[in-house]
This record gives sequence, C-alpha cells and structure tokens, in this order.
Amino acid sequence: MFYIRGFSEEDLSEVYEIALRNLTERYQPELLLDIYQSWPSGFLVAITSRIVGFIAGTREEKTARILMLAVDREFRGQGIGSALLNHFITNCRSGGIVSISLEVRISNQKAIQFYQNRGFQIITFTPNYYTDGEAAYVMWKMI
Ligand SMILES: CC(C)(COP(=O)(O)OP(=O)(O)OC[C@H]1O[C@@H](n2cnc3c(N)ncnc32)[C@H](O)[C@@H]1OP(=O)(O)O)[C@@H](O)C(=O)NCCC(=O)NCCS
Repeated sequence: MFYIRGFSEEDLSEVYEIALRNLTERYQPELLLDIYQSWPSGFLVAITSRIVGFIAGTREEKTARILMLAVDREFRGQGIGSALLNHFITNCRSGGIVSISLEVRISNQKAIQFYQNRGFQIITFTPNYYTDGEAAYVMWKMI
C-alpha cells in the first residue's frame, strides 16, 4: 500500500536519494528546493513505509512542465508512477492549468510508453538536450 502527499522540506534528503538512484541527470538538492518553492503543489511524494517515488514540475501560466518523475525500482509496476501523475494532473486542473509538457530521453522507451499510455503525445524533438548530449522528445497532453 502507498499514498501520495505533498512534498515538504524535511523530505529533501530522501527525495534527493531517489533522484540519484533513478534519474540519469544530476540535480543538486538546492535545485529541488527551488522547484518546490516556486510551485509547492507541483511537487508530490509517494509513501509506503518510506518515500519511494516523487514527481516535480514547474508551471508557467496555463502550462505545467514535469521535470522529474521517479519510482524506486523495487516499487515499480504497482501503479505508483500513475498515482503520482494523476495527483499532479488533479493539482494542475485545480490551479487552472490546461496542458502539461515534459522532456524524455529518446532512448527511454519505458518512460515514453508510460506517458503515451496516459495520453501524452510526442510533439517535437530537442537535439542535445541532456548533459551527455542525448536528445529529448518533448511530449504534451491537454488535461
Ligand atoms: C516511469 C516510472 C516513473 C513509472 O513508475 P511505475 O510506478 O512503475 O508506474 P506504474 O506502475 O503506474 O506503471 C508502469 C507501467 O509499466 C508496467 N510494469 C509492470 N511491471 C513493471 C515493472 N516491474 N517495472 C516497471 N514497469 C512495470 C505497468 O504495468 C505499467 O504499464 P502500463 O503503462 O501499460 O499501465 C518508473 O519506471 C521510473 O521511475 N523510471 C525511471 C525514471 C524515469 O524514466 N522517469 C521518467 C522520465 S523523467
């Protein structure tokens, strides 16, 4: 069993560790805090007996952008990523947001499929998006 709640600043070190374990880009803890402070309802965590996943995004007017979504490997495939995304979408709707965009590595077939299965479409391609030079697909969904 798990539940989703809003991030709080005491969660920072656990969330930072999840980002290190599951994401390929490196983010400093300060950046995570900046993202949270700029839009608190766009930062959520998933909890079992500990934090096992999180989603974090930014917003600009009526569009939100998912910057990070990660679930610890041993907890994947149980609906936690979907629940994080659904809560994020609910918070977006309550905040008057009408669309969501995100970037995903072109090699990250699982994540691309995950987002496509949840109504996101690839709308464009950004060469050299990641620090190692890999390109990103930009994906988009109206909510
Ligand atoms: C993408 C990610 C967040 C999904 O989280 P999740 O908790 O596994 O998500 P869910 O359980 O809701 O759905 C996973 C999908 O994979 C399937 N799946 C089944 N077993 C699985 C497993 N052991 N591992 C992963 N996915 C599995 C699920 O059935 C589901 O398929 P569906 O799209 O047909 O419904 C997670 O795989 C992850 O952290 N990946 C690494 C980081 C990443 O790539 N992030 C996205 C780019 S920022």
